[in-house]
Amino acid sequence: MTQRVAINSREALGHALVLLPLIAVAVWLFSLHAGAMHWHAPGAPRWIAAAASLLAWFGLIGLLHGRRRTPGVDAAASDDALLIAHASQTGFAAQLAHQTADSLRIAGTPARVIELGALDETDLRAAARVLFVVSTTGEGDAPDSAAAFEQRCLARVGALAGLRYGLLALGDRDYAQFCGFGRRLRHWLAQSGAQPLFDPVEVDNGDAGALRHWQHHLAMLSGATEMPDWQRASYGRWRLVERRLLNPGSLGGPCFHLALRPEDGVLAWDAGDIAEIEPRHADETVARWLAASGFDGATRLGEDTLFERLARSHLPPPAQLAPLDVATFAAQLQPLPHREYSIASVPADGALHLLVRLMHHDDGRLGLGSGWLIRHAQQGGEIALRIRANPAFRPPAPDVPLILIGNGTGLAGLLALLKARIAAGARRHWLLFGERQAERDFFHRDELERRLREGWLERLDLAWSREPAAPAYVQQRLREAAALLREWVGQGAAIRVCGSLAGMAPGVDEALREVLGEETLEQMRMDGRYRRDVY
Ligand SMILES: Cc1cc2nc3c(=O)[nH]c(=O)nc-3n(C[C@H](O)[C@H](O)[C@H](O)COP(=O)(O)OP(=O)(O)OC[C@H]3O[C@@H](n4cnc5c(N)ncnc54)[C@H](O)[C@@H]3O)c2cc1C
Ligand SMILES: Cc1cc2nc3c(=O)[nH]c(=O)nc-3n(C[C@H](O)[C@H](O)[C@H](O)COP(=O)(O)O)c2cc1C
Repeated sequence: MTQRVAINSREALGHALVLLPLIAVAVWLFSLHAGAMHWHAPGAPRWIAAAASLLAWFGLIGLLHGRRRTPGVDAAASDDALLIAHASQTGFAAQLAHQTADSLRIAGTPARVIELGALDETDLRAAARVLFVVSTTGEGDAPDSAAAFEQRCLARVGALAGLRYGLLALGDRDYAQFCGFGRRLRHWLAQSGAQPLFDPVEVDNGDAGALRHWQHHLAMLSGATEMPDWQRASYGRWRLVERRLLNPGSLGGPCFHLALRPEDGVLAWDAGDIAEIEPRHADETVARWLAASGFDGATRLGEDTLFERLARSHLPPPAQLAPLDVATFAAQLQPLPHREYSIASVPADGALHLLVRLMHHDDGRLGLGSGWLIRHAQQGGEIALRIRANPAFRPPAPDVPLILIGNGTGLAGLLALLKARIAAGARRHWLLFGERQAERDFFHRDELERRLREGWLERLDLAWSREPAAPAYVQQRLREAAALLREWVGQGAAIRVCGSLAGMAPGVDEALREVLGEETLEQMRMDGRYRRDVY
């Protein structure tokens, strides 16, 4: 790779610049010994001093070389490191690429940052996993540093079947070709057979919510789900007004319907948007921690108490606390990361609805976000919440037929789209929903069956994976209804998919490609007719 070659040649030049004056000095000293002067053995102390100097020199070189090879330093990270390729015009993409690498390394995933322009297709094939962080400049152009890469590589379909990638595309919606280069790169990767690790994240004008979403993917990728947010969001005050178990006796994790209302009374979001919540530890956990540490939870820290601050922060093991005063200690606390949930309602419903599954860690601990919402937060209590706009997952115009596909809690995002469309008078809806068992996991059954009876849903296909008689997934339902699917798409239908990134989303994608054809689906994706919100 050209960047590595450049580093090696700079290193060689540096060595030459040091060596040449040293040789000149040696020649000059030697000339002093010629002629009238005679050679004398320097004596043991001088030999020892010279040998020690040489050893110290080699030691220093070795140390510097070794430090360059530690994982924290980009150019020399190990070869199996995750590659982060950036294309930046004014530096933001490069900065985010480095932040991405730092977060991954802290989470124990080695990462190496490189300019996209320094890579070619062979490098990408060899890399196996690459995260691209690219901006767009001019009128939809690649940054200058990636222009040659675009000409060299994107001009023809590549062979990247083994490559798995993530893409963070920076842009600005005020320009006609929003994320133009990022989208061309994504199209080329898809055509070349590369597989996405997760759906690309597009960032409008540095939008902090989209960047937190990218961080969510980094956390999932490295398995470090408690990675601190780069930028702390400010949350609004909401009240949890309802919490109801939807699947008693389910073979899967318990799923809850939650309703929340904002304290300021302003209900404002669009269908497809995401609720970001700030998790907290259970009060008992904080109280136990305080008892072990000896700090007083009532100590005031500005507008907070220490108790409040701890509830929203990573708790360091009390045994490892150096003797610190409380202000110094509090300043070092790391905030807990946010969690994202698809909003299942529209403002006209009078509350923000969520569909949340309780998650557990392998060791039995409750998931941070779902544990807070379902087990620790009191019904009637306060939840810190903010809304992240999700313009990539909006309902299409009312005259466009809509196919909604999802599983599990993914029903939430689909419900919001359905409600917004019904409010706009649209009737042509086909919902395909999958879960485990018909008797236990048919979330919001009454509402969906009513919509079907009233004609707001034209068709409802259900797939139950744990029904011994006929286990099925939604992708199977798509294949069974292939002719109808082609008919709907022929009539201009749009497709929205919401739910599991593992299993459902790739399975549905494969079935759609099979039934509709690679080219049609790719065109639908580029036209915004095929959109996914998967996690
Ligand atoms: C755009 C978006 C929308 C989402 N919408 C919803 C929604 O409507 N309802 C909902 O319940 N969740 C939704 N999620 C997932 C949610 O944000 C959390 O990831 C989930 O609640 C687990 O978080 P936790 O803090 O409880 O668990 P953590 O403390 O993060 O982890 C607990 C355990 O669960 C595992 N885990 C965490 N997340 C996942 C995952 N996505 N798939 C498989 N295993 C996982 C971890 O590996 C760990 O073992 C959405 C995520 C995104 C990105
Ligand atoms: C001169 C100029 C042209 C731009 N053209 C586009 C464009 O065509 N499409 C787009 O989505 N964003 C466009 N942008 C927005 C940038 O992509 C966005 O600001 C990005 O964050 C810059 O990242 P960078 O600093 O890594 O280059 C443009 C910005 C500038 C300054």
